Amino acid sequence: MAADPLSLIRAQGRVPRHVAVIMDGNGRWASGRGLPRHAGHWEGMKAVREAVEGACEAGVEILTLFAFSTENWKRPQSEIDALMQLLGAYAESEHEELAGHGVEVRVLGEVSRLDSAARAAVELMENATRGGAVLRLNLMVSYGGREEIVRAVRRLAEQVRRRRLDPEAIGEDTVERMLFTHGLPDPDLLVRTSGELRISNFLLWQLAYTEFHVAPVLWPDFRREDLFAAILDYQRRERRFGRVSTR
Ligand code: FPP
Repeated sequence: MAADPLSLIRAQGRVPRHVAVIMDGNGRWASGRGLPRHAGHWEGMKAVREAVEGACEAGVEILTLFAFSTENWKRPQSEIDALMQLLGAYAESEHEELAGHGVEVRVLGEVSRLDSAARAAVELMENATRGGAVLRLNLMVSYGGREEIVRAVRRLAEQVRRRRLDPEAIGEDTVERMLFTHGLPDPDLLVRTSGELRISNFLLWQLAYTEFHVAPVLWPDFRREDLFAAILDYQRRERRFGRVSTR
């Protein structure tokens, strides 16, 4: 009998510490069923639960989900409203369970652009789950990779202007400290669903040496087994970080 994927992951021993996910295909999932796009986003919330539980089971330490991009603000207002409501519903229905499982949630991005109800949802989730030590769950909301780098440059320039920073002293670590993800290791593995081969302005700085895995399923159909398959795929890779093979 074939070993179950979790046993294989554990036997291999090299579990990615940080997994990032581009959750793509909600709209196609819905239109394929003759449903409005927001139905796909609601179904996508179930897949978020699967990904979080699967990450805990596999021993992943950090899970970073792309929930709403800077570009998503250009979608029809009705879809934006649905996604904001979804954030509220997720916070309301999941915060106790997340806290119970030791999941610490952080919402990262230009959170000030959210409406007051969505900001309250963020506060609820972050406060209820503070100190969770099993999994750090980053929900990237109103997030864009280029905007994050521009924001970092602006903050560094301001420090130089105030003569608190010498331009010569700026290095990769200085820039990293200005990112939303500061203090976290870069993702080891990026999973993108729906078969698309794009980075879509996600974590442009942090993905420099990340391994990519593209899953063919649309996000609402994503199950923990798909995460396990991505991790097993990652475990077969040789990471060289620009150096030569040591195998
Ligand atoms: C991309 O699919 C998905 C989004 C823009 C939203 C992602 C949000 C969720 C999965 C809900 C998660 C909720 C919480 C609270 C974390 P798309 O709409 O671009 O799909 P398409 O490419 O098929 O049109």
